[in-house]
Amino acid sequence: MRTTELTQTSIPKLNSNSKSNSVPNSDSNSDLNDFPVVGSLGNESYFVSAHKILTRFNHRRLNPALPTESWRSDLRRDLEAQILEGEMVELERSAIAELASEAPTEAEGFMKWFVGLEKTGPGQHDPLFDYLAEKATKEEMRWFIQQEVAGEAGFEDLTALTQVKIPTRPKLEMAHNYWDEMGRGAEKGMHGPMLGMVAHELGLSEPDYDSVVPEALALANVLTALASNRRYAYHSIGALGVIELTAPGRATKVHQGLKRLGLTNEGQRYYSLHAVIDLRHSSDWNKEVLEPLISENPALCRPIAEGALMRLSAGARCFDRYRQQLGLRLTM
Ligand SMILES: [Fe+2]
Ligand SMILES: [Fe+2]
Repeated sequence: MRTTELTQTSIPKLNSNSKSNSVPNSDSNSDLNDFPVVGSLGNESYFVSAHKILTRFNHRRLNPALPTESWRSDLRRDLEAQILEGEMVELERSAIAELASEAPTEAEGFMKWFVGLEKTGPGQHDPLFDYLAEKATKEEMRWFIQQEVAGEAGFEDLTALTQVKIPTRPKLEMAHNYWDEMGRGAEKGMHGPMLGMVAHELGLSEPDYDSVVPEALALANVLTALASNRRYAYHSIGALGVIELTAPGRATKVHQGLKRLGLTNEGQRYYSLHAVIDLRHSSDWNKEVLEPLISENPALCRPIAEGALMRLSAGARCFDRYRQQLGLRLTM
């Protein structure tokens, strides 16, 4: 656990968006024509452009639609976006390759390493969450939740996409998890709309991409890329597993902040629920999804480790940006 503390160094710049991330509603991807397919994640303009394009692509790819006359040219355009997506994932993979190489390649050691990510993984126990719990104003919390909503790719849909053709035992656990996400068949218990309730109580409507930082879009794009491409199926399983592992720590702090700021029980429910239910989801995912897969095939340790680290790194990048945006500085 880090011993760093936070100090607020300037007036929060919640509405300043010089690096904002306007995602036009247009269905066009014409900006792909001039876009360098291979770039650097450290290059800010590459990062922002790539994730704007991929956010539009993911809307188009996943939203239910109808046949059109232009389906052939649409497919050709989408292939370009898929190549960009692949390049983005490969850059993310190379960024965590060294850390991933530390993961053991036999089941028992791997599971210890994986569970240890809760303490030592990138972005874990970021002091941003103590600030949200204890000090953030309502306007700051509102801004944070807006980023959370934009960065949330929908755990239930990611699970549904990932479980296709997975062996029976892990598939069954993924089905259990999905059923919980769906409120076990009751709309009131569905997790997605529950997050919508937090946003609603804070006066947020549809995600407003002008107010969303690119790091939050990147988080959703990474998870969607892993779940939507079968070559990353085991990466996605690692990413979803590490979400379950690490969500309770963050959810506990955000819940504390929402309670302090006077949201109703209903408005707090998404976070109060995830502070608890994901402890069980995590231990079941580890026991029923990860262990059987890696015991059967130890070569899956590496992709699962990579997926988990890519998810945590994308989260850590968000927390850094959120602290900057809130004017918070780490003091060692
Ligand atoms: Fe959930
Ligand atoms: Fe969960």
